[in-house]
Amino acid sequence: MGKEVAKLTLPGKEPIDLPVMKGTLGPDVIDIGALSKLDLFTYDPGFRSTASCESKITFIDGNKGLLLHRGYAIEQLAEQSDFLEVCYLLLFGELPTQSQKDKFVIKVKNHTMIHEQLIRFYSGFRRDAHPMAIMCGVVGALSAFYHDSLDIHNEEHREICAFRLIAKMPTLAAMCYKYSIGHPFVTPLNKMGYAENFLHMMFSVPSEELIPNPVLVRAMDRIFILHADHEQNASTSTVRLAGSSGANPFACIAAGIAALWGPAHGGANEAVLAMLQEIGNVANIPKYIAKAKDKDDNFRLMGFGHRVYKNFDPRATVMRKTCYEVLDELGVHDDPLFAIALKLEEIALKDPYFIEKKLYPNVDFYSGIILKAIGIPTNMFTVIFAIARTVGWIAHWNEMISSPDLSINRPRQLYTGPIIRDFVDVKKR
Ligand code: CMC
Repeated sequence: MGKEVAKLTLPGKEPIDLPVMKGTLGPDVIDIGALSKLDLFTYDPGFRSTASCESKITFIDGNKGLLLHRGYAIEQLAEQSDFLEVCYLLLFGELPTQSQKDKFVIKVKNHTMIHEQLIRFYSGFRRDAHPMAIMCGVVGALSAFYHDSLDIHNEEHREICAFRLIAKMPTLAAMCYKYSIGHPFVTPLNKMGYAENFLHMMFSVPSEELIPNPVLVRAMDRIFILHADHEQNASTSTVRLAGSSGANPFACIAAGIAALWGPAHGGANEAVLAMLQEIGNVANIPKYIAKAKDKDDNFRLMGFGHRVYKNFDPRATVMRKTCYEVLDELGVHDDPLFAIALKLEEIALKDPYFIEKKLYPNVDFYSGIILKAIGIPTNMFTVIFAIARTVGWIAHWNEMISSPDLSINRPRQLYTGPIIRDFVDVKKR
């Protein structure tokens, strides 16, 4: 049987055969690469119908609510694995054996400290700077410190960069918080696990070392797992786009952090909490539901809806369960924001507007409540997303750089500006 083709027929032209590509899962994809040779382009703002690359890392079926990393369901990974094991899986394609895992964990831990000189960067920022603003700066600045690993065509260099970024992100993130409250920075403790160490760097002080509560550590680890990767989302696509020009990985990840910051993407977890606080009371929910449905009001229910999930977000299910565990452990199951969140969810899920538009709670609807209960300040929520997503960004960057088809990503446009005209001297305008 010959290869499948799609036929494109344009008025007054011969039909064009376009190859149909098949993945291991998911819909077929039409390869339109040949069109540019004919000076033809497709139009898809927002990339709703465009596969920007081929990838073996993560698969999402938005209609079934399915999320797989290297073939493993996110629910199983969240229940049975831990964040560093998921990092290994995303980076290398397979779950590690015990000895591979041990070696990997040691390698990551070897890189948790940051260069002393980089510490000075923090004092250049205002104390009330948003931590994502600081993260954009300090992560980009890593490329000014690690010249020894910047050859992107060297596999070993790429691996060291991956270890450095995964290991240093929690350190850099916790430093943003410590700086904002005027506390001294806390040195990472490598005897601790990844999530445990992060909580330690956030909440220990020199006069009193914090031994983090294991239930909260597990919740933090789960938040990291659930945010680790999500195929070609806005920030990952940004990392790939930046990386396609040959830019170094630290600069590319800084670009990813910038893209993640927006409220339609990683900034949503912070926006959810702000929204719940603004609603303030269960009795006010109908007013906000009405606002969300009003075409003339740009208010949206934060934590609802997703570009890909049109059924439910499987990460939200795990997050909801974790939320109960954390609130039970801390004895705050009557948390007023959680009560508002549950009621909002109940009302929205019965409302025809949300049903018709397939708007379900997403991962960020619950993560904010968990993080707030742990004691993480609201403006650090998106930073935590960035810590977790770093591995996804690097896995995709690495996949792209090691691909034989690597070429600069350069989209085209539909130009609707003025046609050619003569320059007019300023005196005659
Ligand atoms: N509240 C009210 N209406 C909504 C919402 C919402 N949260 N989300 C989408 N809609 C409506 C939207 O107004 C539009 O209506 P109409 O067809 O009448 O114009 C319709 O649903 C489709 O919306 P869209 O903007 O075309 O959908 P999208 O795929 O471009 O946007 C989204 C996806 C996540 C940006 C959007 O649902 C949203 O803004 N949600 C709130 C922000 C949020 O929670 N983001 C976190 C996403 S999960 C974390 C991550 O992966 O980054």
